[in-house]
Amino acid sequence: MKISIIGAGNVGAMTAMHLCNMGFENIVLVDTKPGRALGCASDLSDARFIFRRNYHIEGSQDFRQIKNSGMIIITAGIARQPGMSRQDLLTTNSRIIKDISTQIKQFASAAIVIVVTNPLDPLTYLVLRITGFSASRVFGMGPSLDSSRFANQISEELSLDVNKIEPYVIGGHGKDMLPLARFTKTEDQSLNEVLSQEKVSPLIEGTIQRGAQIVSLYGSGSAYFAPSAAIAQIVKIIAEDKKEIIGLSAYLNRKYGVADVCIGVPCRLGRDGIIEIIELELNEEEKSAFLKSARSIKDQINQLYKEDVIKGTSSH
Ligand code: NAI
Ligand code: 2OP
Repeated sequence: MKISIIGAGNVGAMTAMHLCNMGFENIVLVDTKPGRALGCASDLSDARFIFRRNYHIEGSQDFRQIKNSGMIIITAGIARQPGMSRQDLLTTNSRIIKDISTQIKQFASAAIVIVVTNPLDPLTYLVLRITGFSASRVFGMGPSLDSSRFANQISEELSLDVNKIEPYVIGGHGKDMLPLARFTKTEDQSLNEVLSQEKVSPLIEGTIQRGAQIVSLYGSGSAYFAPSAAIAQIVKIIAEDKKEIIGLSAYLNRKYGVADVCIGVPCRLGRDGIIEIIELELNEEEKSAFLKSARSIKDQINQLYKEDVIKGTSSH
């Protein structure tokens, strides 16, 4: 299957490296910065002998190269700088993503599209609206990264093998995300049963703040090792039709009590995209936190309507 990555920056290039090493054979990188995509592709093709993989990788500024892609990963746009929130990126990145969505619609109308660019949830909605693709094949990567970060915090706190943790994080990929201690399992026990609220709270806060912490450590740009690993995990589930449950920013219309919004929820994923959205039975407190997160995403979506990035009027 041909896989195209739009944006050959830190996340895009590192994703390409994972896919090359995992055995994907036909990869295209597109970046508007002259030489960037071709440079990455040339560099990565030199690793074919070392990886013992016969992949073909191309890099270009020309969107026609994405023609007939089975999957497209959007990592183009600007990344957070210290002090910036993901939402600060909305105005700049929405214009970039709108243009890219138009190109995807024109050149790769059968593709599954994985959105990565921030702010993740409103931009996933934007791609959905501009491409007009079915909601089963347009979704965002964020909750699976947040879940991996939550698992990392829990593993360190409990000195527990990370493989024995089943983390759940839902909601928006931002400050309103919801690491769910009640649903998160450690060796088949709920995290709430294993740790007191006083011990769980810093793990939740640490997960929510992790992206910003890494931005501030780097001093410029944002995380890319774990994000690219999370993208590669999604690509593998799709390519191997695994039908596994994974957190994605998915389009909801009525489920979880929200309408016309993209937000993080567990989804069953396979060859054709999202097969099923899993509805967790949230308690009142969790539900109200989820609705708060959805409202904040909705505000950003409405901003896109107001600024005419999406035509028409928001219905809600
Ligand atoms: P980066 O700055 O290293 O790379 C972005 C690349 O996009 C640059 O090479 C730039 O030339 C390219 N670009 C800009 N406009 C373009 C266009 N119209 N078409 C093609 N390429 C274009 O940034 P990085 O670190 O790779 O992050 C990319 C995006 O991913 C950011 O918005 C960041 O916030 C987001 N991100 C999201 C995560 C998530 O969990 N959803 C995790 C990590 C990053
Ligand atoms: C992250 O969570 C910036 O969204 C990116 O690291």
